[in-house]
Amino acid sequence: MSEHTAASQEVLRLQELKKSYNVGKPTEVEVLHGLDLRLQRSDFAALVGASGSGKSTLLNLIGLLDRPTSGELYLLGEPTRDMPDMRRTALRGHAIGFVFQFHYLIQAFTALENVLMPLMVARGRPTPQDTERARHLLHEVGLARYEQRKPDQLSGGQQQRVAVARALVMQPALLLADEPTGNLDSQSAADVFGLFRRFNREFGCAVLMVTHDPRLSAQCDRTVTLVDGRIERDERQRAAPAPPAAG
Ligand SMILES: Nc1ncnc2c1ncn2[C@@H]1O[C@H](COP(=O)(O)OP(=O)(O)OP(=O)(O)O)[C@@H](O)[C@H]1O
Ligand SMILES: [Mg+2]
Repeated sequence: MSEHTAASQEVLRLQELKKSYNVGKPTEVEVLHGLDLRLQRSDFAALVGASGSGKSTLLNLIGLLDRPTSGELYLLGEPTRDMPDMRRTALRGHAIGFVFQFHYLIQAFTALENVLMPLMVARGRPTPQDTERARHLLHEVGLARYEQRKPDQLSGGQQQRVAVARALVMQPALLLADEPTGNLDSQSAADVFGLFRRFNREFGCAVLMVTHDPRLSAQCDRTVTLVDGRIERDERQRAAPAPPAAG
């Protein structure tokens, strides 16, 4: 991580980012029309907007699951648009954690094995330290007693907490969440939100979370509003922590 220390607290920068689907076909449609955005490590931001405004499209670009049509997307200071697939995959693996509305846990695996998955994908067989870290995260999300359970033996809220632990096991600089609480009752939603808040404070993991729940976006520090593929507003509800001294 040495190249991403104090000098760059900036996790993400979008420059004139555009995205079209079905390029070159009669059905070609531009859905993101030139977005500029910066996220710092300390940021805890909601991404809101009407259905179809482009939130998931944007998250997929930021998560390096898809490529922009034009413009640039810097992740940890690195331009990613023309980066070869292998490097994008590696960067995604260590820099980004994902939580989706549906958790996509592997049913045949225990909670602990699911949390270990990203580590195993990145480096093969887990070391005892890896297993310790995964256990610690399950403890942090309140599931210490459930590590040997399979997903279908857990409640929806518990499954989503396993997904949160899995998203954080690589200690990502940026946590992306697409309606992570959309499928949960209000208590489980508050629990998952509380975990994001804590990991943002304690590990300096930037959070960008799509939510349709105004009670949750109101508790974020910043709200970015998309309207028809454009950033219409970018508001801070609370003062961000002071940036590192310049020079
Ligand atoms: N693979 C695709 N091919 C063509 N058009 C697409 C594709 N994916 C999304 N779109 C279109 O892009 C626009 C933005 O979609 P997106 O899924 O990003 O919206 P969203 O803000 O996440 O909506 P929701 O709140 O309903 O999840 C929509 O008009 C959608 O129809
Ligand atoms: Mg969406």
